[in-house]
Amino acid sequence: MAIAPGPHHVYIARMLDNRPPLPPEIARRRTFAIISHPDAGKTTLTEKFLLYGGAIQMAGQVRAKGEARRTRSDFMQMEKDRGISVSASAMSFDFGKFRFNLVDTPGHSDFSEDTYRTLTAVDAAVMVIDGAKGVESQTRKLFEVCRLRDLPILTFCNKMDREARDTFDIIDEIQENLAIDVTPASWPIGMGRDFLGCYDLLNDRLELMDRADRNKVAETITLEGLDDPRMADHIPPALLEQLREEVEMARELLPKLDPQSVLEGHMTPIWFGSAINSFGVKELMDGIGTYGPEPQIQKASPRSIAPEETKVTGFVFKVQANMDPKHRDRVAFVRMASGHFTRGMKLTHVRTKKPMAITNPVLFLASDRELAEEAWAGDIIGIPNHGQLRIGDTLTEGEMLKVAGIPSFAPELLQTVRAGDPMKAKHLEKALMQFAEEGAAKVFKPMIGSGFIVGVVGALQFEVLGSRIELEYGLPVRFDVSQFTSARWVHGAKDAVEKFINANKQHISYDHDGDVVYLTRLQWDIDRIERDYPDVTLSSTKEMM
Ligand code: G4P
Repeated sequence: MAIAPGPHHVYIARMLDNRPPLPPEIARRRTFAIISHPDAGKTTLTEKFLLYGGAIQMAGQVRAKGEARRTRSDFMQMEKDRGISVSASAMSFDFGKFRFNLVDTPGHSDFSEDTYRTLTAVDAAVMVIDGAKGVESQTRKLFEVCRLRDLPILTFCNKMDREARDTFDIIDEIQENLAIDVTPASWPIGMGRDFLGCYDLLNDRLELMDRADRNKVAETITLEGLDDPRMADHIPPALLEQLREEVEMARELLPKLDPQSVLEGHMTPIWFGSAINSFGVKELMDGIGTYGPEPQIQKASPRSIAPEETKVTGFVFKVQANMDPKHRDRVAFVRMASGHFTRGMKLTHVRTKKPMAITNPVLFLASDRELAEEAWAGDIIGIPNHGQLRIGDTLTEGEMLKVAGIPSFAPELLQTVRAGDPMKAKHLEKALMQFAEEGAAKVFKPMIGSGFIVGVVGALQFEVLGSRIELEYGLPVRFDVSQFTSARWVHGAKDAVEKFINANKQHISYDHDGDVVYLTRLQWDIDRIERDYPDVTLSSTKEMM
């Protein structure tokens, strides 16, 4: 029995909420990120997406182009050496009737804050796991972040051309480890050297992998169910018997695909494949199109933003400076939340209430940046600017709306920073402010004394900052142990905060927005303040504005 696919569930969900169908241009957008543990195959899968998306011609070229892109965005030698991607970027491509926007999440666990913000800009996530390794630590962490937002998740079990775990074991592990229902969208036939392909449970098709040509699209044979005699033409008897048994068991034991449950983030369909052999990728893309969510409502204050609203709104979830060291430009990555944007539009920058003509927005098509003539809700555009646009900023056609839910976390590691050349203190300040705006680090200026304290979430970020300051500003710097280990933002009525500041000057600093931050070494201090200053609250997150 096949489970009927179809995008109709999306419309049913909308009708239940009394909302009209989305304009077709918006309805066809699927904006998502890939979450995975390093080495599971995210890069390879991305390349195949782009290949099928027609963004690139040949897979051989992909690596080369991928490298070219990397040398531009992952400008640091360190990144290359360590094989991590510090910078998130966005790519758009068409597949079938869908427009996919893939937002790249930084792969290293040190950059969780950045990753978290990236995930505020997508409507779904594709979770890639290695068929031999199952759910790994980084996958689990990223999954938890997705769960906080109830993001729908589609799963791709990769590397089936190698020895993999038993299919039921893999599914069980995901269900138990991540507490999510798993429903098979395809079922692997054999594994490792015997891996032949998959039976497509959603469409009753046999997909056969071609080992001779890694870039070839799998041969597809439409069948009348598992008992179709033509199966025997392609699958040896022992494997066929195993397949029939397993699928029968799977249909008895595992939940059926429930599109609504997928959209609510309670169920994940799983596809099996081999990214390097281009196998299973098309089926996954079909699945993202069919079962993945349309652009969703964006939480904002004082009201939420619906994608179908005719007025344009968008928000900045990522700022990347110096993508091209020659031009010292900054690109703000903006997720369009509603409307139809066209190039040259004047939008209101809500934080400063100033108009901004968006004359040269960029779309990230595969490896090349291109001028974006238009963009719809769901799309990601890059807006080059000189620092006006910060993470969390909202752009509208005039209404004072502020997108909610883009947090800034208190850093977990603090160090003082000094320029190697004391005459260059001003330069250092400029560099630090820029990185603070990018969200690459927290920068605190102590109320008493000189210099700066830099705060990060993962230790590797100090190294990244050090090499970027040297590379981009020609300024060698030194980081040293700070007397403080924790930072908390201070909130409260003006009088109460002033009184608090006056009594705790040694501990007070200001972040790059000028907000008051309390620095300390002792949890005891934080507890004491909570007791002694009931009118003041200390918090470890602040919403970016
Ligand atoms: P990541 O971005 O998640 O870190 O993973 P990436 O795509 O870079 O893949 C990690 C390694 O796994 C690469 O091998 C890649 O070729 C391999 N790989 C990806 N998909 C498959 C697959 O379906 N089957 C098999 N057998 N291997 C796969 P590498 O040796 O590290 O790099 P390379 O020399 O192949 O480029």
